[in-house]
Amino acid sequence: MARDPRYDILFEPVRIGPVVAKNRFYQPPHCNGMGELRPNMHAAMREVKAEGGWAVIHTEHCSIHPSSDMLGESVQTLWDDDDVAWLALMCDAVHAHGALAGVQLAYACNWNPNRVSREIPMGPMGRPCTQYDPQYTRAMDKGDIKNMLGWWKDAAVRAKRAGCDVIQVDVNFSQVGFQFLSPRNRRTDEYGGSVENRARVVKQQIEACREGVKGDCAVTVRIIIDEVMGARGLMAETDGREIIECLAEEPDLWDIVIGTWDYDSRTSRFVPEAAHSDKVAIVKRCTTKPVVGVGRFTSPDTMVAQIKRGIMDMIGATRPSIADPFLPKKIEEGRSEDIRECIGCNICVSGHYTISPIRCTQNPTMGEEWRKGWHPERIAPKKSDDSVLVVGAGPAGLECARALGQRGYQVHLAEAGRELGGRVAREARLPGLAEWGRVRDWRVGQIAKLPNVQVYRESRLSATEVREMGFNRVVVATGARWRKDGYGRTNHYAIPGADQAHVLTPDDILGGVRPDGPVVIFDDDAYYMGSVLAELLRAAGREVTIVAPASEIAAWTYNTMELKYIAERLDGQGVGMLTHHNLLSIGKGEVTLAHMHSGRERRMAATSVVMCVMREPVDELWRELTAEPDDLLEAGIRSVERIGDCLAPGAIVQATYAGHKYARELDESAVAGVSVRRERPIVHARGAR
Ligand SMILES: Cc1cc2nc3c(=O)[nH]c(=O)nc-3n(C[C@H](O)[C@H](O)[C@H](O)COP(=O)(O)O)c2cc1C
Ligand code: SF4
Repeated sequence: MARDPRYDILFEPVRIGPVVAKNRFYQPPHCNGMGELRPNMHAAMREVKAEGGWAVIHTEHCSIHPSSDMLGESVQTLWDDDDVAWLALMCDAVHAHGALAGVQLAYACNWNPNRVSREIPMGPMGRPCTQYDPQYTRAMDKGDIKNMLGWWKDAAVRAKRAGCDVIQVDVNFSQVGFQFLSPRNRRTDEYGGSVENRARVVKQQIEACREGVKGDCAVTVRIIIDEVMGARGLMAETDGREIIECLAEEPDLWDIVIGTWDYDSRTSRFVPEAAHSDKVAIVKRCTTKPVVGVGRFTSPDTMVAQIKRGIMDMIGATRPSIADPFLPKKIEEGRSEDIRECIGCNICVSGHYTISPIRCTQNPTMGEEWRKGWHPERIAPKKSDDSVLVVGAGPAGLECARALGQRGYQVHLAEAGRELGGRVAREARLPGLAEWGRVRDWRVGQIAKLPNVQVYRESRLSATEVREMGFNRVVVATGARWRKDGYGRTNHYAIPGADQAHVLTPDDILGGVRPDGPVVIFDDDAYYMGSVLAELLRAAGREVTIVAPASEIAAWTYNTMELKYIAERLDGQGVGMLTHHNLLSIGKGEVTLAHMHSGRERRMAATSVVMCVMREPVDELWRELTAEPDDLLEAGIRSVERIGDCLAPGAIVQATYAGHKYARELDESAVAGVSVRRERPIVHARGAR
């Protein structure tokens, strides 16, 4: 199909200093847990984005020197010439599709205690490192600054040698340039005080890179212009703008960030698309250089509006490029409705905090491009004429049916209810989670285009019916249900009193029950559900207290960077929050709690209790079917498998992955031993450096 002319503006080239981006789609830097340890995985992941039409593709932050190692998580390094090869791998892969390769050069201080290199971190002042590390940075003297600028130049030289077109100076919250820019910089020399003084290091970083690349690469800056902490931090309208004015024409492009990472990448529970535009617009008025902004952009109409309103010149889209590496191409080919829109859940971010390679709820192929050979758009054709019955149209069943259909199998998707989407459909009705419905919407839309996939609603199937239907393969994706008895992470037994009528589960609330208050929500699940139910019941006028055995409410959301926003919202709504407490027993009108460590007991009024504790598979159909293997054989059924929550409950990301994996692996010969490709460290000869 031809491109909609309304979107032509998105495909105009943009000059960035000495190089030209073929269109306005810009993938900002994003870490992915691959880094120096997994260079092939990294190159393949970026290559898929280049193939998908992005004009500029960056690495994640790339450490320029061991005195700022940024390790723990595997990130990129350009410490010496041996590091050039991994970056060249990515540059070549990206260039093969006509995109520009960018590297984000980084030197972090304060946020970076050098746990691996054990070098003493440096910054503008001596201060304790963040995250409660018992390590301080030391204040840089002028010699240190000179040395550091030399490392910037060396890294730029190496990046150019690797084939980079764009060298980005990272002036993000964790970075040395930003720590100098901050109004909390207390230096009294020419690197502190006035805006001009505070901006000196950034100017010198740009100059050092320019010296290194000698006019062959663009030198750009990614910078925070507003710390979102009032007058204690930079503010876009005042000193943030003054900094841009001071350095206005220095870089070849401005890439603008608002707030620290958790703010910049807020989830859809807390902000809509294009949340930063007002502040980014300020930058456009201070420079003639191209400006990039971010804001979870997935809608081409919103993107066009950002350009036409003069807010930005290039559309920065990190999470949208993870959820759909082919987003630009789909717009270009007039297939915008095929875009797999990011749902804003930040599962991709959780890889950073859990030190694991990136994954995505919407895009099960993310991170698997090299080690499994999965491509987000292509899949091997079917290897047999087997027909497949998928039972259950939740995230696992929908993805399984869609991907099997894409392979060409005859698929029958049976859903017990009227509505498709399973848990996603129910949870998308909870406060702030509407965008999660995109997991269902994209798959339902794609399935509708596949004539070989039939969807049957209101088709609750018994084992006998399944056997009579004549399919060769059966996939059971019937989801999970919440337990009511309190058995879970903390308690390995039923909690006394949990069998009473005023004790409910999240399924009851999702089904429309609104219990009388005061309500105690016992959150032993520790992800989002307890806190979302607290919001819902509070909005319905109930007095609500959320009780958690963990040291934080919704403790796992630390990994999605939502923890503090959840606490802020619940506090603002008047929800009580009690951490470090277990639920001992449930009486009439009250519960008994105990401190997790001291054991001290206390009572709390509770007319109703919601047990947000753990889920168990709804696997009765699978059990019935597999209990009689001879009947299966007789019915011509060659396999019956459970996938997703029906096998082992997890987050939605695990469900879409499970559905996709089943579809990819059907009829493929099993690989003996380890089934994925692995990268190996170089084993040096004994005694070699
Ligand atoms: C998984 C992930 C990793 C990120 N890593 C980096 C990074 O290494 N450097 C950086 O400047 N920004 C990083 N970011 C921030 C993004 O580049 C971007 O500014 C932010 O996600 C907002 O854009 P979006 O709404 O298009 O996702 C990361 C974001 C995500 C989601
Ligand atoms: S994991 Fe969630 S937030 Fe991240 S890209 Fe995928 S859908 Fe978007």
